[in-house]
Amino acid sequence: MIELRNVTLKYGEKVILDKVSLTVQDNTIKAVLGPSGVGKSTIIKLMLGLIKPNSGQVFVDGVDITPLKEADLYPIRRKMGIVFQGNALFDSMTIAQNMSFFLRENLRLPEEEIKQRVTEQIRFAGLEGYEEQLPESLSGGMKKRVAIGRALIFNPKMILFDEPTAGLDPVSSRKILNLIASLKKSNDLGAVFVTHIIDDVFAIADEVSVLYQSKIIFDGPTEQLHNSEHPFIKSILSDKILEL
Ligand SMILES: Nc1ncnc2c1ncn2[C@@H]1O[C@H](COP(=O)(O)OP(=O)(O)OP(=O)(O)O)[C@@H](O)[C@H]1O
Ligand SMILES: [Mg+2]
Repeated sequence: MIELRNVTLKYGEKVILDKVSLTVQDNTIKAVLGPSGVGKSTIIKLMLGLIKPNSGQVFVDGVDITPLKEADLYPIRRKMGIVFQGNALFDSMTIAQNMSFFLRENLRLPEEEIKQRVTEQIRFAGLEGYEEQLPESLSGGMKKRVAIGRALIFNPKMILFDEPTAGLDPVSSRKILNLIASLKKSNDLGAVFVTHIIDDVFAIADEVSVLYQSKIIFDGPTEQLHNSEHPFIKSILSDKILEL
């Protein structure tokens, strides 16, 4: 479980998040929906302990990670897989090397076990036959699946996605969303994904937090979003704006 409790985050004098609280339960898909520049990637960075809040706390499985030193954050981060917006693949490494990189760097596992985990993820991501290719030869959707496979390689309980469908065509988007939903069912995984695309939220999110002007203006089950009286939410739903 990940919880932000009363988190305030400033860059310089500018308040990005103002007393933001939200919880991501295990085995639940939670979306954080908000317009461009509102602080969505900042929320992901806070959850990983990559940045610290000015005030408030971030809990991972009940542990307040805000006072932790870098070395103590490593085991916490290993509970979470992360898929960056641009995938952050290593251009000069093959697909198999991309997937095994962090495993090899961080855990001193026998080579046999590394191979086995990579084979599992290649199969899961539907990338058999592409093991020895470089990322540049893959489509956008396939690159995203490599990044997801790499994020799963530590067997995390939770996976964090920064804009998982940004830049993908509708068919590839749908495939990635289905993959995220299937992770919850088949691997008991929880997921949090930040997005500006409302359709993605309705497609797979159990719960949604809406971030607007530094504050959470809705937090609850996705199907209850329609009941919100907040003018911003009413306008995005009634105008059928697909992207914020
Ligand atoms: N290191 C930084 N220093 C100063 N300002 C920053 C820094 N990182 C982000 N910001 C600003 O903080 C705000 C929130 O940034 P963030 O990247 O979290 O937004 P976002 O919702 O992910 O945006 P996008 O939709 O563009 O991905 C933006 O106004 C951004 O310009
Ligand atoms: Mg962002």
